[in-house]
Amino acid sequence: MMMSVLLAADFRAIGITVAVIVLAGMVALFVRNIFEARSELGSEIELAPNKKLYFSDEELEGKKLDASLSFALVVLTLTAIALPFYWLAEPGRQEGAVDAYQLNFESRGEGLYTEGAQCVNCHSANGVGGVAAYVLQDGDGQFIANASWVAPALNNLFHRYSEEEVTYVLNFGRPGSPMAAWGTPGGGPLTSQQVQNTIEYMQTFQVQSLDPIEINESADPVAAQAEADELAAEIRAEVERSLADGEFETLGEAVFNLGYFSGFQAGSLSCARCHTSGWSLGPAVPRLPGTDPLDPGIAGCGGGDPSGIGFSLCGTIHERFPDDAWKLPDGSWAPEGGLADDEGFYYEAMDGTEVRLDDRGSPVTADGEAYLILTEGDTAGDLAECAVVSGLWEPSSGDAYPFDQRVPLESEDGVFVDPEPIDTSALGPNDLILPSGEVGFECEVIDMPERTSYAQFNFIYNGANAGSGYGRGGQSAAGLMPGFGALLPEDLIQAVVDYERSLG
Ligand code: HEC
Ligand code: HEC
Repeated sequence: MMMSVLLAADFRAIGITVAVIVLAGMVALFVRNIFEARSELGSEIELAPNKKLYFSDEELEGKKLDASLSFALVVLTLTAIALPFYWLAEPGRQEGAVDAYQLNFESRGEGLYTEGAQCVNCHSANGVGGVAAYVLQDGDGQFIANASWVAPALNNLFHRYSEEEVTYVLNFGRPGSPMAAWGTPGGGPLTSQQVQNTIEYMQTFQVQSLDPIEINESADPVAAQAEADELAAEIRAEVERSLADGEFETLGEAVFNLGYFSGFQAGSLSCARCHTSGWSLGPAVPRLPGTDPLDPGIAGCGGGDPSGIGFSLCGTIHERFPDDAWKLPDGSWAPEGGLADDEGFYYEAMDGTEVRLDDRGSPVTADGEAYLILTEGDTAGDLAECAVVSGLWEPSSGDAYPFDQRVPLESEDGVFVDPEPIDTSALGPNDLILPSGEVGFECEVIDMPERTSYAQFNFIYNGANAGSGYGRGGQSAAGLMPGFGALLPEDLIQAVVDYERSLG
């Protein structure tokens, strides 16, 4: 872009310079002719015998000469004027040529999308998404059921994937799903030029994203912002509707499964379509163990849809993305590492207390000793120390007694009896019933906000980049995990992080 602007400026400058030089030259010549006209030289006196008498000098230098010179002058003037004008129009001609090629590519791409490769059959006109017929088979190739496989909306494709990643999907398809390999590298029918044309066509129907940089750089930032706000509002409305209709229980679960029942944006914004087995086949296809070859479809724990593109999020999330950040009391993220002063990092607890953090972000006492972080299921031995972070207790004195109101105790004679209900009136202000049901005496509570992973938020925001692994034990580096930062409002991404971390 920059280059062509520079070039255009050059061409204009050249054109104008040439025009000025030519005009100045003409004026100079004219003036010189007037002032420096020379007197006549002599002429031939005798005519040679083999020569025919030509026009007389009077005749030649009269009308005839005038006519020839005038004609020459007119042609010269026309050329001199036309040439710079030709240069002046050159940048426009170049822009026109580029536009024409682009239009040509786009219309070829459109031809492929709507007819040649019939992407439109599954992804619908303008890439709003749809469904693809699919036959479910068991391991031996036996028919199980006809199903409709969700074909994601493509009108937000380039806000989720880079062009390179889209090329990869088009070349190799999604093996095991209705999305075939289209490019020659994957054995498909389209040349790399045709794949490129299809991409250029798909770029013509992208919707507005929430990305502030894109909004700022658009031709009309105010209108773009309004469109982005509308998109965000639509997404929120759909999430709220699904919660109100009882489809999901938590905000995070609703975002994770966005569109499962309603088909909103053909599931393109959901996580579960790649992270829960069978999600793409919709709620109508039963997924009970034994009735089909798919996993039972535990949210987030399946190895992706039947194509296996996704990745089980159960069991490994905390290992891959360790807790590395606190949430601020208002629900937003603390800066990475916590708040900082001369002595290092600290964090504000819910009640405003400053809690020092060690260099790994774990809270330490004023003496620099680590707090014991207890989670549900920890033993009474740990509790005896009575130091807990996040619903947090620090010991001042006393012991903790095991006491669980939910589990009937066995008495000595082998009869189960309900435990004595705890007499809460006997508890002091600092005696607490811990999440495990045990009692901690004389505890000092530091009510820390939730601990979570900024790295995980970042990963979901940006997606996996083609060519680079991430986290501990790095993944496929194929760039298949989309980035959602330009399409999901940040608080919804955060809700989904909480949900995933709750899966264990
Ligand atoms: C037979 C139906 C069908 C046809 C034809 C088809 N697709 Fe697909 N496509 C799908 C399905 C289904 C998926 C989702 C696969 C999955 O669940 O991983 C998909 C996925 C994609 C994706 C990945 C998008 C994402 O968010 O995961 C792209 C890009 C895509 N298709 C583009 C195209 C283009 C371009 C064409 C035409 C050249 C095309 N598709 C033709 C059914 C189809
Ligand atoms: C188009 C399919 C697809 C969609 C949609 C998708 N993911 Fe992924 N996700 C993947 C793939 C593939 C990987 C493995 C990354 C790799 O190997 O490059 C992955 C990896 C992850 C990981 C890392 C898992 C680990 O243990 O390393 C997290 C976390 C994750 N996805 C969360 C999400 C969330 C949250 C969403 C929805 C906002 C989502 N994904 C939507 C395909 C998808």
